[in-house]
Amino acid sequence: MKASVLDGLAIASEIRAEAASTALTLIAKGTTPALAVVLIGDNPASASYVGSKVKACAECGIKSIKKEADISISEAKLINIINDLNKDSSVHGILVQLPLPDHIDENRVIEAIHPDKDVDGFHPVNAGRLVAGIDCLAPCTPAGIPELLSRSGYEISGKHAVIIGRSNIVGKPIMNLLIQKGKNANCTVTCCHSGTPNLSTYTKQADILIAAIGVAEFVTRDMVKPGALVVDVGINRVNDDSRERGYRLVGDVDFDSVSKIAEAISPVPGGVGPMTVAMLMKNTVAAATKLDN
Ligand code: GUN
Repeated sequence: MKASVLDGLAIASEIRAEAASTALTLIAKGTTPALAVVLIGDNPASASYVGSKVKACAECGIKSIKKEADISISEAKLINIINDLNKDSSVHGILVQLPLPDHIDENRVIEAIHPDKDVDGFHPVNAGRLVAGIDCLAPCTPAGIPELLSRSGYEISGKHAVIIGRSNIVGKPIMNLLIQKGKNANCTVTCCHSGTPNLSTYTKQADILIAAIGVAEFVTRDMVKPGALVVDVGINRVNDDSRERGYRLVGDVDFDSVSKIAEAISPVPGGVGPMTVAMLMKNTVAAATKLDN
């Protein structure tokens, strides 16, 4: 068997077109949706992600405001920047690119963002609303996963989803999204993590296996049930002297071996990554629509 490859690029482009259409409606009513992106320091991966987000905004008719600061910025100064963006009614979304330098408390920074402008869905108010099943801004990477599966033609209701990873950015929110009653959810969910003994006992039971570990090619063929849908959230740089830039990107799943037995698999790059950016566009126009009313 050869798995079909989940085309995150094509589906992300569909979602970006929908966001662009909502942006046009807002613009016709006199509101240009605007996203502020805050980048601290010069981490090349963060700079690259922020670049993709700014580019996607331009394509969708969303105004982007890039705020950059040196790695030495104090927590208080960063929170002042956020407070100004909270007060600015022409700004609808605020995103602080993570990770932040060690001297800054990430949680305090996230809590400073107004929940209605929290397009990353990381604020505890949005995290709580997600758990309670209340309409909210949901984190972009997790929210993109059911979209990627359903728009590829896979029904996820009633399936057993096994997640590897319990981060606040991916593992916990995807658990809470998939367990909801309703369309494009309704899964039985198991969340495994670094404290899970005999991991493959669980992963082999997965109809949907979601890998969000942060370890290159961690999930191998022997850990996967034949016919599973495999979603790879990892983006890892591995040294590769044959590439001009000296590295290549691989996921948390050993694509070559797992694609021989899975029903479908998301590639890296071109799978979950572009979906994250598309869902950010969707959240930004949703925040602008709500704030405009
Ligand atoms: N760093 C890694 N992923 C993300 C994300 O989705 N949002 C932000 N703000 N930072 C990140």
